[in-house]
Amino acid sequence: MLYPLVKPLLFSVDPELAHDVSLEMLQLFSPLLPARRIEKPVELMGLRFPNPVGLAAGLDKNADYLDGLGRLGFGFIEVGSVTPRAQPGNPQPRVFRLTRHRSLINRMGFNNSGVDHLVQQVAGKTRDFVLGINIGKNLDTPVADALSDYRIGLEQVYPHADYIAVNISSPNTPGLRDLQQEDALTALLAGIDDSRRALEDQHGYHRPLALKVSPDLDAQAIPLIADVIRKHRVDGLIVSNTTLSRETVGGHRFAVEAGGLSGVALRDLAREMLRLFYHELGQDIPIISVGGIDSAAEARIRLELGAKLVQIYTGLIYRGPGLVTEIARAL
Ligand SMILES: Cc1cc2nc3c(=O)[nH]c(=O)nc-3n(C[C@H](O)[C@H](O)[C@H](O)COP(=O)(O)O)c2cc1C
Repeated sequence: MLYPLVKPLLFSVDPELAHDVSLEMLQLFSPLLPARRIEKPVELMGLRFPNPVGLAAGLDKNADYLDGLGRLGFGFIEVGSVTPRAQPGNPQPRVFRLTRHRSLINRMGFNNSGVDHLVQQVAGKTRDFVLGINIGKNLDTPVADALSDYRIGLEQVYPHADYIAVNISSPNTPGLRDLQQEDALTALLAGIDDSRRALEDQHGYHRPLALKVSPDLDAQAIPLIADVIRKHRVDGLIVSNTTLSRETVGGHRFAVEAGGLSGVALRDLAREMLRLFYHELGQDIPIISVGGIDSAAEARIRLELGAKLVQIYTGLIYRGPGLVTEIARAL
């Protein structure tokens, strides 16, 4: 209700400043906000999601704003990406609005306060939504040693997450996306699977794991990835991260900026990747669709294309927080 009034103000300042100010405000006023709850339960990955609308990773990298975000009606919230050690990310400016495309380009580069901080933020907190924790690798960890970073993340967040998302698809950490190649992915997921078995024994329970992929995969890579994830007990697939393509925003003054494109300009590609992965996976492994969802109609299309859940990020910036309940109510 309030968002149309504050949006011009937020859009008049740097996107990252607008992001920080809105989240600080949301968190500050969270005790005064009525909790919005929409019950449209979905049972998936052994979890009960109150409704199928989630917050995509990257908006709350450190789980600093869960009180406020928890009031907006999400069925699930994915925090992170978090890396073993704190790191600053790329120099600013690193987020750009492509307003006429209702899109963003970002090259944040996994700026975050490290996994210990995130764990402190979530430990022992009661919540009425499913919490996903998205893990990545530090910039200065060679890609060849990526497994060791994912193992640290996995071990630290295991007792605190309802599900764990493994992000191998950010375009802003050099080499990260190479982990999607068949051999590298097989080695990574086999190593992660070993760690998970040890953690299952140690804690006495199973934590579902979701893999987050890029929309820039070759069509030939999709059946290979589908095969590998089937063999390594991956419980869910998040399709997709941001794109390096600029096909849909050609000529825009920010199209030349390095980074990943999100929002409406990613919509058709995200749909197509969902279609291709669903063709391979069918009902074997559930798909969470993300990329350019900014209306109930678009969310419905993703469910019709085979997704079981949806996530939003850029749509929230352009449409405001009311988008969450708008979609959840309509589905
Ligand atoms: C500023 C920004 C930061 C992001 N950071 C992350 C991140 O840390 N980890 C991740 O897995 N995805 C990250 N993403 C990708 C989103 O989670 C999502 O996959 C992508 O933006 C497409 O969805 P959308 O079109 O609804 O924004 C980020 C996106 C944006 C715009």
